[in-house]
Order: sequence, then structure tokens, then C-alpha cells
Amino acid sequence: MKVDVLLGLQWGDEGKGKIVDVLTPKYKVIARFQGGPNAGHTLEFNGIKHVLHTIPSGIFHPDAVNIVGNGVVIDPIILKKELLALDNLDCSYQSNLLISRKAHLILPTHKLLDAASEAAKGIDKIGSTLKGIGPTYMDKTGRNGLRIGDVESVNFIDRYNRLKEKHLQLLAHFDFDVTTLDEMEKEWFGGIEKIKSLQFIDSEHVINQHLTNEEAILAEGAQGSLLDIDFGSYPFVTSSNTICAGACTGLGIAPNRIGEVYGIFKAYCTRVGSGPFPTELFDTTGDELRAKGHEFGATTGRPRRCGWMDIPALKYAIMVNGVTQLIMTKADVLSGFETIKVCTQYQYQGKTIDYVPFDVVGSELKPQYIELPGWNKDLTGLSDIQELPDNLMGYIAYLEKELHVPITVVSVGPDRKQTLIRSAVSA
Ligand code: GDP
Ligand code: IMO
Ligand code: MG
Repeated sequence: MKVDVLLGLQWGDEGKGKIVDVLTPKYKVIARFQGGPNAGHTLEFNGIKHVLHTIPSGIFHPDAVNIVGNGVVIDPIILKKELLALDNLDCSYQSNLLISRKAHLILPTHKLLDAASEAAKGIDKIGSTLKGIGPTYMDKTGRNGLRIGDVESVNFIDRYNRLKEKHLQLLAHFDFDVTTLDEMEKEWFGGIEKIKSLQFIDSEHVINQHLTNEEAILAEGAQGSLLDIDFGSYPFVTSSNTICAGACTGLGIAPNRIGEVYGIFKAYCTRVGSGPFPTELFDTTGDELRAKGHEFGATTGRPRRCGWMDIPALKYAIMVNGVTQLIMTKADVLSGFETIKVCTQYQYQGKTIDYVPFDVVGSELKPQYIELPGWNKDLTGLSDIQELPDNLMGYIAYLEKELHVPITVVSVGPDRKQTLIRSAVSA
């Protein structure tokens, strides 16, 4: 048995939460492997819309084991809120939500440091979600961090205070206001108490045991490949490896245990926060995509920047992830456009190129488009792939020809049911 991986191929928000929820009945285990509450994964079913930040998107299926892996960073305040929301829905998690002891904790001072760092950057800010992600991963790699397992140790408070003091010195250097800290700490320790009721595990052992038992595992990515710390548009990226390799380090599985790699992408592009976005639209078409696609962040509520499909960027993401199947979401949002534009290459420093250059920050990267005929049909009520309009089938065929990977799932609305399966998909 192998671990299948589902991950975003763009700048996040591709619809990972929805599709993981749809695929969960095929799997025994759903495991998050990186990121933290910067993620906002939306699920819709039975008229309920639910946003998860830390908890894997299989949680609404009582038979699935949901694991928060060692590569994830956890804010107890946010995790507590997520758990309370599940309590309100009568969704049980005591037996099927497991947290890695090696997952790192986001402290209140990590969030202050995130805010201080962004404020100091001024117009060059990353556009972080301000959830403390960068500072927490810095403490992890700097070998200073606190982990979930430390919560059970007798000197936890001492270690917390030592790290907090270190952060306060840095915050003084930034001359940053810390008056909210007392309140944040109170809430944080309340969160710690709540999450103590969860099962802490050595997740690498548990996951490998499931593999030995021949039970199917789906690893759920957060963010997107173009936000990867190594391969994204650095420095406008997040602080973890969002690509497939991150599933190995974030869960403790060997590379040869990876099976299907589902790469998920929107039928167009969006991005929240700063950084290069070659096909970004600043006109009414961009506004129309935002309005029709409800493109506002699930975590911060910020309007998402919108633009056309970018083939060179998508090809790059497919390459670094070894994608075996593509999943296209939000095809319904493109209904009604007379033509659909697709960027096939860029004009860059007087040359035509079909790859993403090293340093696109602040440089001129002009997309070259082809136009494909659009379609008018409302797709949101469709239940059979055969009912897709010919011009959408033409768009799909074009993308498959360019990308050399089959598009096996087409999503036509936010609800679980609005999902059309074309072929393949495994476990
Ligand atoms: P994630 O971070 O990748 O899980 O994606 P988000 O939840 O942040 O953003 C995706 C948004 O699109 C959510 O509001 C989903 O409910 C919605 N969504 C997902 N798939 C579709 C689709 O096929 N069509 C439409 N119209 N909305 C979708
Ligand atoms: P999901 O899992 C979209 C973006 C932020 C910012 C940059 C760095 O829902 O797809 P960070 O908070 O990590 O320091 O922010 O990354 N970002 C996301 N954009 N979806 C996400 O997650 C994101 N997580 C972080 O907007 O530009
Ligand atoms: Mg999201």
C-alpha cells in the first residue's frame, strides 16, 4: 500500500479541502503534513459550509483516522476554536483525531513577531496571514521550538517562558507593542488545556503501521506549490515545503511509499498576499472572476487577486511534484466568458520563454496568451461528465495535451456533490 498525496499546484485555495472530503471514503487515514492555521480549507455538504485550518479535511467521515503530522505547526487557540465548532456540529473527534507529538507549537509571541516583521518590511511585506507561521518554522530549524509532546513534560512552563523571553528581546528590537500579550497568553493556555484532551501520538510509527496493515492513506497538502519555501516565488512564499517531498518529511514516510500524486488547480489562477503573479488581471474581467468565484480568503477574508491560467507555472508545479493525476476545480466560474485566455509563455528581457525565471520579483514578465472559445452553460447542477459543454471539453483536452497528465476530476461547485469523476482516481 502507498501514500497518495493531494496538493495545490498554484498559490493555494485550489479547493483542497473540498476534494479531500470527497475522496475520504476511499481512504482509512487522512494526514496533514505541513503548514498550519495559515491554511483555510472549505468543505460544503448538506447545506453546511465549514472551514478547517489545522484539522484534516477527512474529519466529517467517522470511519477515517485524521492525523496532524509532525510537519504541521499548531496554534492551540485556533485548534481549540476548530474543536468547539466540531462540538457544535456533534462531530466526534476524540477517537479519530490524532496529533503528532513532534508538531511544533505556535506561541503568542510568534504571532507578534510575524506582525513585527511584516510591519518592518513596509511595502515589501510578504502579505503573511499573520498566524505566526514564519517565526515558528524559524524556531524549528533554529532548534529552539516547543512541540506538542512538550506539553506533557514537567518543565513545560519554564521552557515556554524561556522562549517567550527570547522573543520579547527580539520584539523590543523591533520596538513592537506587546500590550496584547497577556490576553493572548490567557487564551493560549486555555487552548493548551483543550488540546490536552486529544490523543498525542508518534505519528510516523502510526502512519507506517497503517501502511503495513495495507490501509490506504491520503496526505493533504496546505498552501500551494508556488508558495513552497524552495520552489515558490521566494521570498513571497510560506515557510514550509508544500510540494510532494514535504509529505515525506512531514509524516515520516519514505519516498518510495508515495503512490498517486493528485495535483489540484483552479480553472484560472488566484493569489492572496504579495508577490509576482504574471497573469494577474487588473480589469473588469479580474473583478468578474473574483465576484463569480467568491474569491475572498477563507482564513483572512482578504480579496484574492485573480487572473488567467498560467501553463508554464503549472508545468513547473507538475514537474516538482511528480503529479500523476490532475483535478480541476471551479470550472463553473468560467461559464459565461466569451473566450478563455491561457498563458502559454512569457516575454522576459526581450526573449520568449516557457519557464519561470529565477528572479521575477520586480521584473517584467509579460504573459503571452492563446484564446479558447468559452461556454455559457450553468455547470453547477450537472451530475455526469458527459453533460459538460463541448468547449469546456476542448479546454480540458487542450490542458491535457500541454501538461501530459490526465485531468481525472472536474469540480463544478463548492458542494461535495458537485464533483464529476472522469477516470482513474485510486485507493
Ligand atoms: P483550499 O484552501 O485549497 O481548501 O481552498 P479554499 O477553501 O481556501 O478555497 C476554495 C473555495 O472555493 C472555497 O470557498 C470552496 O468552497 C470553493 N470551491 C471549491 N471547489 C469549487 C468549485 O468547483 N466551484 C466553485 N464555485 N467553488 C468551489
Ligand atoms: P491554503 O491551505 C492561500 C500565503 C499568504 C502570504 C504567504 C505567506 O488555504 O491553500 P504565511 O501566513 O504562510 O506567512 O503567508 O502565503 N498563504 C496562503 N495563500 N492559501 C493558503 O493556504 C495560504 N497560506 C499562506 O497569503 O502571501
Ligand atoms: Mg484556503
